[in-house]
Amino acid sequence: MLRVLLNHSSPARFNQALKLFSFLQLLLLLLLHGYSHLTSAQPFVYVGCSQNKVQQDSPFEANLNSLLSSIVGSSSQSSYNSFAIGNGTSGPPDAAAYGLYQCRGDLKLDSCSNCVQNAVGQLGLVCAYSNGARLELDGCYVRYENMDFLSKLDTTLVHKKCSPKTSEEEEFFRRRDDVLADLQAGTGFRVSSLGMVEGIAQCLGDLSSEDCSKCLGEAVAKLKNVCGSAVAADAYLSQCYARYWASGYYSHADSSGDDQVGKTVAIIVGSLAGLAVFIVLLSFLRRAIS
Ligand SMILES: *[C@@H]1O[C@H](CO)[C@@H](O)[C@H](O)[C@H]1NC(C)=O
Repeated sequence: MLRVLLNHSSPARFNQALKLFSFLQLLLLLLLHGYSHLTSAQPFVYVGCSQNKVQQDSPFEANLNSLLSSIVGSSSQSSYNSFAIGNGTSGPPDAAAYGLYQCRGDLKLDSCSNCVQNAVGQLGLVCAYSNGARLELDGCYVRYENMDFLSKLDTTLVHKKCSPKTSEEEEFFRRRDDVLADLQAGTGFRVSSLGMVEGIAQCLGDLSSEDCSKCLGEAVAKLKNVCGSAVAADAYLSQCYARYWASGYYSHADSSGDDQVGKTVAIIVGSLAGLAVFIVLLSFLRRAIS
């Protein structure tokens, strides 16, 4: 069958097929791009996947799946929760799965649940088969591990971002330090705005207020020491984050009007690409048959 096909296909035909193939690939990319625009209502912040892989059909894999569905299920009821699955005495000792999620303190529960579902879905793609992973979206955070990391103070710096733009104004840094001091005094979730500087900070829901202050103290120190004179900076530690920015710094990037336009464009591009794939396939089939 294959030989017959090969015998009958001229080089020109082969070239045509190749061109068609790359065209289809391009369309597929466009489709995926449109799709990711549609689904990621919450901008991506960072992701980390452990190098160790999950054994397929292992007890850990089963516990992990049950953990992730507990996380998704719980996110419509509460903005924070943690789970330990399979750490009882009955199961194999290394099969336990531990995990948590945390939504940003000002999110309504339906947005929280939406964000967590999105995060778990992305983890499944980006960190497929990792036995530990964490993903932060602008709105929620999800982490799971093969070891018990719950409620243990951990101030490791996981992700930082300093704006390329810097400032020399003393006044700016006085305000910034006031904002950071205000954020640091918070326990849980805090938004702060003083004159030309704004900030936000949050601890994981299971941190005691004492541990939360310690964590935020570290985060604030990182912002000052690592990002120096940046006009905007983010420091994400294992259990808390603190961010500040000059008022207006992000406003053109995340206005909701832009988002609507982006979505509409994505829908149109997506539909057109889908239609084009369909038409191309049809004509290819007709040519192949005739
Ligand atoms: C499982 O781990 C959780 C989280 O550390 C802990 O609270 C719980 O007591 C553990 N359960 C057992 C049976 O060891």
